[in-house]
Amino acid sequence: MPRLSMLPTMVREVFGKPTLPREPEPCLVMEDAEQVAAYTHAGRLDGVMAAAYLFHSAQMTAVLSGRKRVVDLGCGPATQLAQLAALNPETEFVGVDLSATMLAQAQAYVAQKHLTNVSFHQADITCVRDFPDGSFDGVISTMALHHLPTYEHLRATYQEMRRLLAPGGAIYLADFGRMKSLKSVIFFAYFKAKGQPHLFILDYERSLRAAFLHEELAHLAAQEFPSDTETFATKFMPILTVTRTPAPRIDPAKCAQLQKMRHDLPRSYRAELDDIRMLFRLGGLQNDPFTKGAQNVRSLELPPSGTFDKHS
Ligand SMILES: C[S@@+](CC[C@H](N)C(=O)[O-])C[C@H]1O[C@@H](n2cnc3c(N)ncnc32)[C@H](O)[C@@H]1O
Repeated sequence: MPRLSMLPTMVREVFGKPTLPREPEPCLVMEDAEQVAAYTHAGRLDGVMAAAYLFHSAQMTAVLSGRKRVVDLGCGPATQLAQLAALNPETEFVGVDLSATMLAQAQAYVAQKHLTNVSFHQADITCVRDFPDGSFDGVISTMALHHLPTYEHLRATYQEMRRLLAPGGAIYLADFGRMKSLKSVIFFAYFKAKGQPHLFILDYERSLRAAFLHEELAHLAAQEFPSDTETFATKFMPILTVTRTPAPRIDPAKCAQLQKMRHDLPRSYRAELDDIRMLFRLGGLQNDPFTKGAQNVRSLELPPSGTFDKHS
């Protein structure tokens, strides 16, 4: 996200009237090999999504602290999931996606990274079925919810998350929020897309058009999730949203690791990460895992140990 060049979009989004209807994604499940390759390529850790991936990995590391078994709904090629799993080797992760093409990319990627705490499962996130109630003490999903065809599918997915989650479990959901105007969508799609394959640009534009409103996501979370779940959006223009339960104190060693990862980003991605942090902070998301002593403490009500060991 650029600083100065963002200003006209911010002004338009703050003062304009909402004119952009939701247009569901034409490819709900990403099966097409070329589309998957473009998304995977653009998304790998040195790609254009590096800043957003690191932001969410940091937030999720804080929110999931102390959790044993976490499911990622709509894991795609597992770029985000692999980064999170490497940061949290003590946690077991299960990635769920309906696309066999995506899951093949994901399997190969975690094998290449020598990660032993990630497995995958092919299923529809609106109705995962194969896992019993309360199978996980953490549920996450990043950039997948806008792929659902309707608000009712989103509700079904939230209800499925609630079913899968053990009492006291942690939630972290990240997705785009729909902006007010098509001009803003085009600005972000084409700014971000410089040097990217055409299919990725198109995919990004379609994702922004398919996004649910921040208010819709917040409303549904308030209806379906525990009362300490909150939904935040980037201030001025809700292009990114996060729904999450509070974060316990983050392990100082992980905080240091995250600071180093931020430092090692190329300069432009680091600036983008800092913009995302600032816009979320202004949007009310106060804890910042990149800052020492970051916390938003709640007492952890973890289920007795062993609860999550019995399911395969
Ligand atoms: C844009 S990708 C996001 C991938 C990853 N979470 C990330 O942050 O990069 C969205 C993924 O959701 C998957 N998806 C869409 N609808 C789904 C459904 N109903 N059930 C399972 N997966 C779904 C797609 O196949 C795709 O892999």
